[in-house]
Amino acid sequence: MDGKDTGEALALARDLLTGVDRRYEHVAAAARTAERIARVVPEQDRDVLVTAATLHDIGYAPALRRTGFHPLDGADHLKGLGWPLRVVGLVAHHSGARFLARAHGVEDLLDVYPDEGGPVADALLFCDMTTAPDGRTVSFAERVRDAHGRHREAPEAARRARAEREPFLRAAVARVQARLGPAR
Ligand SMILES: [Fe+2]
Repeated sequence: MDGKDTGEALALARDLLTGVDRRYEHVAAAARTAERIARVVPEQDRDVLVTAATLHDIGYAPALRRTGFHPLDGADHLKGLGWPLRVVGLVAHHSGARFLARAHGVEDLLDVYPDEGGPVADALLFCDMTTAPDGRTVSFAERVRDAHGRHREAPEAARRARAEREPFLRAAVARVQARLGPAR
């Protein structure tokens, strides 16, 4: 990936997210899950998956805050640092960001970046959605329950957007589980 590798991704995430709640622990755990499930994507895509899992939440770093929509703030920063557009696009659109972007008024800004969909995006979503914000490995059902609790006080539009996103998340997690097969 043009000199940008998984090690550099981890160092960047550590620099930006250490001390930001437990976000570094979350992305480090998501990256470990990515390594564990890497067989669900073609071999040539495995480094991209681990890199995107490591970087997907860097937009939570206070220093990067521009729009306040973390997938976009993270993607903008990575683009500025010269990360491959594919990684930037995966971060911008991770975990159904599109569903939440409208409530944040940033749909057009997000659309600047490619939304590749497919097995790598599904696998990234799985890594995020089976890792709690503090880095614990959890089931998708637990993650969703926890998110409902955390966003209980969110504005109506944001809660509705999350509800609309949920079936999309569930379907992607099911696709990854099917690709993993019984030996997961
Ligand atoms: Fe995440």
